[in-house]
Amino acid sequence: MSPEVTLRPIADADVEALAALWQATGLTRPWNDPRADIARARASHEAEILLAVGDDGRLAGSVMVGHEGHRAWMYYVAVAPALQGRGLGRILVKAAEDWAAARGIEKMHLLIRPENDRVRAFYAAAGYGEQKRVMMARWLDGRPLDA
Ligand SMILES: CC(C)(COP(=O)(O)OP(=O)(O)OC[C@H]1O[C@@H](n2cnc3c(N)ncnc32)[C@H](O)[C@@H]1OP(=O)(O)O)[C@@H](O)C(=O)NCCC(=O)NCCS
Repeated sequence: MSPEVTLRPIADADVEALAALWQATGLTRPWNDPRADIARARASHEAEILLAVGDDGRLAGSVMVGHEGHRAWMYYVAVAPALQGRGLGRILVKAAEDWAAARGIEKMHLLIRPENDRVRAFYAAAGYGEQKRVMMARWLDGRPLDA
């Protein structure tokens, strides 16, 4: 059963708790400062960080969603470890989808590391399918890509 939560956009007072949630759920990477990601998303008119907050005011989950006019993308879908498996992840995905649909964007995208079967099953249960595409990337300062 879903825990009781309220969905709302991030506020200043949430930043440290959100960075801690991403750390606790294994979503941070050494080369990515979560606070910088949070600040950039908050500064954009085409992105939002939505939070699920419990009755007690504690941060229960997050999703970062954005679009560039063509496609929407979700990042940082995270549920506090103690609250996982109770439907909250599904609620956050739906909130991101609703955010995109309200802006006329018809398709949601996300990236998963190929070895991450758990998360793949979660998105499959939410109706997502795999599209065969080759993703190419380049660090603009020329450093090598990781695997
Ligand atoms: C992935 C994550 C957000 C899922 O949140 P959650 O609240 O545990 O998921 P839910 O309870 O909403 O599950 C929704 C559906 O996915 C399924 N599901 C969830 N975890 C699953 C798993 N490990 N294996 C198979 N199915 C799974 C559930 O069975 C449920 O399907 P159902 O409604 O048909 O029974 C959460 O586990 C998490 O924060 N993980 C760490 C961070 C992460 O990897 N995020 C993804 C970044 S791309």
